[in-house]
Amino acid sequence: MHIDLESPWNIGPVVAPTRVVLAPMAGVSVQAFRRQGRRFGAGLVCSEMVSCAGLSHGNERTLGYLKIASDEHPLAVQIFGSDPVVMADAARMVEAAGADLVDVNFGCPVRKVTKTGAGATLLDDPDRACRIVEGVVNSVSVPVSVKMRRGLENGSRAALSVGPRLVEAGASSLTLHPRSARQMYTGTADHSLTAELVELVDVPVIASGDITSRARAQAVLATTGAAAVMVGRAAQGNPWAISAIVREAAEPTREEVVAELILFMRETARELGFRRATGFLKKFYGWYLGRGRFPKPFKQELVRLGSIAEVEQRLFAAAPGARDVLAVLEETLPQGDETTLDLPISVYGGG
Ligand SMILES: Cc1cc2nc3c(=O)[nH]c(=O)nc-3n(C[C@H](O)[C@H](O)[C@H](O)COP(=O)(O)O)c2cc1C
Repeated sequence: MHIDLESPWNIGPVVAPTRVVLAPMAGVSVQAFRRQGRRFGAGLVCSEMVSCAGLSHGNERTLGYLKIASDEHPLAVQIFGSDPVVMADAARMVEAAGADLVDVNFGCPVRKVTKTGAGATLLDDPDRACRIVEGVVNSVSVPVSVKMRRGLENGSRAALSVGPRLVEAGASSLTLHPRSARQMYTGTADHSLTAELVELVDVPVIASGDITSRARAQAVLATTGAAAVMVGRAAQGNPWAISAIVREAAEPTREEVVAELILFMRETARELGFRRATGFLKKFYGWYLGRGRFPKPFKQELVRLGSIAEVEQRLFAAAPGARDVLAVLEETLPQGDETTLDLPISVYGGG
């Protein structure tokens, strides 16, 4: 079956205008990333995971607090934890902060998270997983979605037994990243499992894993029956991947790349503060300027610079025309209200 990537679909009452969902990525999915994702055609964006543990003891190592802008919607905010009551409290806060969906993380393979009984380990404890979903569903009026891996061990099919139970518990949508937790990001995502899951549930399924091109997105939608595809690593420093998947777009010019990067830097500095943003942004220089767009020594030079202002200067020197592109971008960008969610962003994320 052919699905038009530009056609709308919905999770309960929430309408996503396109079939591409921007993946939640810890240490990546800051507000600037999500706003940019929406601008480039993602029909739904997700926050990185916020920690419910922060609610009970407040001493979790965190990257700060989630800020939500008015032009991100529809937005899913992802929470993780292992206690149904604490998760339900967190979900209420997420809803109050303006999220359109609460997404529950049953996929994180990172040990710091799994050893607390959260993330992917919950696929091995379906009763608790169901209690969490039930508790969260009963505490909010927005739809609740779940993101999961295939299971803990290689070859596991846990997602196929747990998934339908989560829907019974009230989940309005399931996202499957069909790698095991043990696999982390090695091997490939086995979307034959996604197709099996689609057969088993009557809610929209989102296919996550290795969606890097329009052809791949179309093939996965056609062969799995999923309602949408999720794009993660391909969109790191590369929002053009989203537009190219949604509607066949051209490669960006150097000026466009530099303008988007500087806009991203400015927004991130506003969100995280200059001190935290300086380190946070370093990985993005390689992501934006790689893919043959700029020579390698240039990227390395930027990473060594001490301040964001110096990086901006060097970028403008390398592509002076970017100033005009950036001016237009900044002028057309909606200036929205912003809310801050009183839950910390964990530095331990993954999925
Ligand atoms: C750096 C990084 C951080 C991630 N953080 C999260 C997270 O916080 N929550 C989550 O559910 N998945 C997380 N994921 C998993 C992605 O959402 C996605 O499922 C996975 O990367 C596979 O998709 P891809 O091949 O398009 O990257 C993360 C992935 C990466 C690479």
